[in-house]
Amino acid sequence: MIRSARAADLEALLAMESSLFGQGAWSRASLAGELDEPQHWLAVAPIHGPPRGYISLRCVVDEAELLRVGVHSDFQRQGLARMLIQAGIAWAGERGAQRIFLEVSALNTPARALYMSCGFEPCGLRKGYYSPGVDALLLAKPLGPRP
Ligand SMILES: CC(C)(COP(=O)(O)OP(=O)(O)OC[C@H]1O[C@@H](n2cnc3c(N)ncnc32)[C@H](O)[C@@H]1OP(=O)(O)O)[C@@H](O)C(=O)NCCC(=O)NCCS
Repeated sequence: MIRSARAADLEALLAMESSLFGQGAWSRASLAGELDEPQHWLAVAPIHGPPRGYISLRCVVDEAELLRVGVHSDFQRQGLARMLIQAGIAWAGERGAQRIFLEVSALNTPARALYMSCGFEPCGLRKGYYSPGVDALLLAKPLGPRP
């Protein structure tokens, strides 16, 4: 059900980016770049044709970063994001990542709940990272065997 994104998905991805992230939406060039970058994985969850959810990660040596996850508002709370994250974790593990980390706005309650439900744990804080008074929480999940 989850597959790598391709050029034909860009329109649907741009539309979801715009509606989910507004001013912070990735551009067409940024999304297209994700398709070509060998250390990145942009994957989609199609439902009856078009992608309704997507995830973007990058993996450098033994560490992966979850850059984006989004689900079309009509398809939220059906487990799509959790499935996308599980697929992303599998991708990162296959590439040898020992840890996956991400940053999330302290104000993004749905995303924080999602990541915690997927086993991510707080590991840092960037005060005022998004804007004055809006902190970024750093979350991480170990993938390799614990020491
Ligand atoms: C965050 C987001 C990706 C969740 O997608 P989703 O497909 O609805 O999430 P899931 O259905 O897989 O939910 C998994 C768990 O996450 C948590 N969760 C998801 N949405 C939630 C919400 N609105 N409120 C509280 N908890 C939420 C719950 O624990 C949920 O498990 P449950 O449904 O069994 O209670 C979606 O709301 C979204 O696209 N938001 C806008 C983009 C964004 O902020 N992305 C994250 C930063 S890059």
